[in-house]
Amino acid sequence: EKPWVRMVTAQTPTNIAVIKYWGKRDETLILPVNDSISVTLDPAHLCTTTTVAVSSSFDQDRMWLNGKEISLSGGRFQNCLREIRARACDVEDEEKGIKIAKKDWEKLHVHIASFNNFPTAAGLASSAAGFACLVFALAKLMNAKEDNSELSAIARQGSGSACRSLFGGFVKWIMGKAEDGRDSLAVQLVDEKHWDELVIIIAVVCSRQKETSSTTGMRDSVETSLLLKHRAKEVVPKRITEMEEAIKTRDFESFAQLTCADSNQFHAVCLDTCPPIFYMNDTSHRIISCVEKWNRSEGTPQVAYTFDAGPNAVLIAHNRKAATQLLQKLLFCFPPSSDTDLNSYVIGDKSILK
Ligand code: PMV
Repeated sequence: EKPWVRMVTAQTPTNIAVIKYWGKRDETLILPVNDSISVTLDPAHLCTTTTVAVSSSFDQDRMWLNGKEISLSGGRFQNCLREIRARACDVEDEEKGIKIAKKDWEKLHVHIASFNNFPTAAGLASSAAGFACLVFALAKLMNAKEDNSELSAIARQGSGSACRSLFGGFVKWIMGKAEDGRDSLAVQLVDEKHWDELVIIIAVVCSRQKETSSTTGMRDSVETSLLLKHRAKEVVPKRITEMEEAIKTRDFESFAQLTCADSNQFHAVCLDTCPPIFYMNDTSHRIISCVEKWNRSEGTPQVAYTFDAGPNAVLIAHNRKAATQLLQKLLFCFPPSSDTDLNSYVIGDKSILK
């Protein structure tokens, strides 16, 4: 029989949490200690493109990330592959004359090639875009019938934040109650058109890989931080309700206040962890001061800031005018070739996701 190959390519943007996920109650299934909310970015700027292929001539599953082969033996990849394989259906590709029966998927192997158009593991949520794209592409390849929320519960097992990248706009990851994780999944709150005057600017403070992985950091925080316990139980539930309302009504003042406060509390939890975790650096702190000072002088906030597990700033401007002013301020405070390590700006499109 002549060898055949079937391929699917998908593109998935990354997402940035405005109410953060930090801490797992189950490390294997990746179940969080609180709900979180994120905004999905424009795929033109920060996204993963993944091609998955299946062929009768492949004798093992293999993967390449940015052109370099990586091991698929890790539990996270294996969980995603197993879960999608279990949902594979018959495939009939008339154009290519390929017929794959549901039962054949167990014996067939896949090759995966994935590219990020931004620095990997520098606190820009590369794993979020990566696992969401991988799960989505595999689901299409294997003709799985699950909807995006059901797929999100699979992507979650690759990287928690990945579950939120299966939708555009604003997305909520519901922590769920079930022990098997079946109800820990993402839902879209509003689509990308709902609040399209927002402009997202990412100031790449440092594109090197972070020192503490989110997995290690979360484990240490869960084990040692009292502030995290308080945050998950007393702070986040109320903030989630308020944030949903702010997004629904496009109330930028509340949105900015909640976003900045939540980022700051997440980094306070990192400091409250033993050993303490430092994701932000001096440049990050200077950006916060600059935005805080400006917001105060304007009377109402113009820009919200948020930082993930790295020093890079994600700045969400109320509109184009505020974004232009923000860029002027950033260029003034951090001129190109100054001795800070702020080396580039990634400028988000007006629409957050196409
Ligand atoms: O999904 P992970 O393991 O990459 O964790 C991401 C955690 C934060 O980015 C810091 C917060 C979040 O909600 O995305």
